[in-house]
Amino acid sequence: MIVVTGGAGFIGSEFVRQWIAEESSQLVNIDKLTYSGNLENLAAVGGNSRHHFVQADIGDQAVIEQVLHEHKPRAIIHFAAESHVDRSIHAPADFIQTNIDGTFRLLEAVRAWRAAAPKEFKFVHISTDEVFGSLPLKAAAISESAAYAPGNPYAASKAAADHLVRAYIRTYDLPAVIVHCCNNYGPFQFPEKLIPLMIARGLAGESLPIYGDGLHERDWLHVSDAVRAIRLVLAGGRIGESYNIAAGQACSNLQVVGMLCDLLDELRPQSPFKPHRQLIKHVAERPGHDRRYALNADKIARELGWQPQVSLLDGLRQTLEWYLGNKAWLENVVSGRYRQWIADNYGWRNKRS
Ligand SMILES: NC(=O)c1ccc[n+]([C@@H]2O[C@H](COP(=O)([O-])OP(=O)(O)OC[C@H]3O[C@@H](n4cnc5c(N)ncnc54)[C@H](O)[C@@H]3O)[C@@H](O)[C@H]2O)c1
Repeated sequence: MIVVTGGAGFIGSEFVRQWIAEESSQLVNIDKLTYSGNLENLAAVGGNSRHHFVQADIGDQAVIEQVLHEHKPRAIIHFAAESHVDRSIHAPADFIQTNIDGTFRLLEAVRAWRAAAPKEFKFVHISTDEVFGSLPLKAAAISESAAYAPGNPYAASKAAADHLVRAYIRTYDLPAVIVHCCNNYGPFQFPEKLIPLMIARGLAGESLPIYGDGLHERDWLHVSDAVRAIRLVLAGGRIGESYNIAAGQACSNLQVVGMLCDLLDELRPQSPFKPHRQLIKHVAERPGHDRRYALNADKIARELGWQPQVSLLDGLRQTLEWYLGNKAWLENVVSGRYRQWIADNYGWRNKRS
């Protein structure tokens, strides 16, 4: 039995789907179902008796403790977070609440329950490349020991959570591992993040807004590769260590959006919006916009044998094909009807299934 937090979100739901498809043990999925939590992401495992969903806030220590005592998980994989940088700029409070205080309450719940935990218990904390801040354009990719320099409220809240996890490792012997992940993309990503936002807007013939000059560089990793890496860290990552997960496929925002536009042209040859590149529109720079992230992922390759499998072009093509084949999912999210989907298909709130 393992516990996943945030398993109705983008990366968490990929983890849950992979786990149920490829492993034999049970999984408890704790998710508050904020705007980015969508049970439709879990439709594929909805009827599976090994998947147990609990709608709860990671900050609700009493409920978390109850779940831990009831299920005695051998691991917790902590994905739950407020995850969108733009939102953190406009309204940072939720980020402080969930990412810092929520992680603290979760850690306290684990600490209170620890004596009853299985001997092999492990806590896997999902962090981001953003905690290291912006890198000069030509600088080498950074290792796990780089100094923290978060540049926006989201990154700062994730950095604070990482520090708490580290403090619990040293102070309370928490058997934890931290994972720093670069930008993920793929199916089921909420269309506020760059790639699904551009797909949704491109399909509708709306402008494709790019902050500033668009030369901000990110390393793009397909979510299936990210989750395989996280599963390897769960299985074999050394306690107290951090592991970078990165694809080594750095690309500017402008390049990624350009690639998507070309794929839209190719996969929708009848589109009245061709060529989609004409929809690209530069807009005012985002405050505190980090220029470049680049992680060195040699450690996870060396110690755990992880290598990404999906190239950026193949991954973008697959992702676009997924959004084209799942227009109802996208429409439900964009219109807000996905909340109704939850009510129709589950018909509950605060109930376990
Ligand atoms: N998406 C990326 O590119 C990326 C990159 C690096 C790291 N990460 C990290 O990976 C994790 C998952 O990211 P994502 O993109 O899947 O995010 P997401 O926004 O798609 O999903 C977050 C999930 O957490 C749940 N949640 C939010 N607050 C909660 C709370 N207080 N209690 C319980 N559940 C709560 C939401 O309902 C949602 O299901 C996050 O910790 C994020 O910081 C993401």
